[in-house]
Amino acid sequence: MSKMTNYKMHDGMKQKVLVTGGTGYIGSHTVVELQAAGYEVVVVDNLSNSNADVIDNIEKVSGIRPAFEKVDCLDYAGLESVFAKHGGFQAIIHFAASKAVGESVQKPLLYYRNNIVSLINLLELMPKYGVGGIVFSSSCTVYGQPDELPVTEDAPIKKAESPYGNTKQINEEIIRDTVASGAPINAILLRYFNPIGAHPTALLGELPNGVPQNLVPYLTQTAIGIREKLSVFGDDYNTPDGSCVRDFINVVDLAKAHVVAIDRILRGGQKEKVEVFNIGTGKGVSVLELIHAFEKATGVKLNYQIVGRRAGDIEKVWANPERANTELGWKAGTSLEDTLLSAWNWQLKLRERGIQ
Ligand code: UD1
Repeated sequence: MSKMTNYKMHDGMKQKVLVTGGTGYIGSHTVVELQAAGYEVVVVDNLSNSNADVIDNIEKVSGIRPAFEKVDCLDYAGLESVFAKHGGFQAIIHFAASKAVGESVQKPLLYYRNNIVSLINLLELMPKYGVGGIVFSSSCTVYGQPDELPVTEDAPIKKAESPYGNTKQINEEIIRDTVASGAPINAILLRYFNPIGAHPTALLGELPNGVPQNLVPYLTQTAIGIREKLSVFGDDYNTPDGSCVRDFINVVDLAKAHVVAIDRILRGGQKEKVEVFNIGTGKGVSVLELIHAFEKATGVKLNYQIVGRRAGDIEKVWANPERANTELGWKAGTSLEDTLLSAWNWQLKLRERGIQ
């Protein structure tokens, strides 16, 4: 048995990882990568923003059906019963959260309760059940508009622009304070930039509820004719073409970052009990560049118009991913063209399935 597989086995059994939000967009892609790496996965999700048939599609991709528990992470007793029933989790990846920036401004208490109480429940249950590791879904939103680009993990945390962004900042602090208090927990905080694309099989992808707020789902829905026109929010920013600049990270590459983070925790490879990593490509791409890359990759002409700025948007942000590259040995590998093609294939597949 190779050294690699060794630490994924525990008393001759596969090491078990609990994935909250495992039927969601990033969660589902991460489940299949964990399975491919040899982990046994248990998924918890309340299905508030996803569908149970994602479990079927995970099985189609990986050939392994993960255990699934429909439980809300706000429900302490329900969550505890998952720990008690399955037993022996070596680590947790916590995705389950509300994530719409605009909605969070309208419904702040929903966001604070959902995103914060879920994490508190997990952090209370971990020591009780001997679970020593957690990987947390954080976001580059914690940097606000950075003073220096590309942004490193040491950049100051700016005042959050939305309750959603604030929950990410607060959750990072809750994890730090809990670990500092002596709780037997090791944590890795992954700050994602802009995840896009879908699984190359087109069996997993992003399925937004209602009108998409994010750029790529809106773009693919426009390309397929569900939406009439994509609005580009602003072309008067201080950027090369005037539109906002982001670091678009392929969702499968992002999923793989979680696997190496779990590997690192479980083999005791951390330099500190709480580590933070930027997960991005290191390349800034403007909204207009992305539109043109989509047209080039797919051959589909996109109907779009320039409109005014969207309130709360950051002008430009992209990652310095060096720490993840060197410490985690992780690097984004998929080209923007392949990523956009995967998003398009997913949209075509949704039509085929009669979903959207
Ligand atoms: C936001 C959050 C991020 C969160 C992500 C997922 C902030 C600063 N960022 O990212 O933390 O993880 O949502 O929900 O809170 N755009 C258009 N037309 C559209 C849609 C978007 O031009 O129809 C533009 C936006 O103005 C922006 C870029 O595309 O410049 C990306 O927007 P979006 O996909 O919504 O992501 P962010 O706002 O970057």
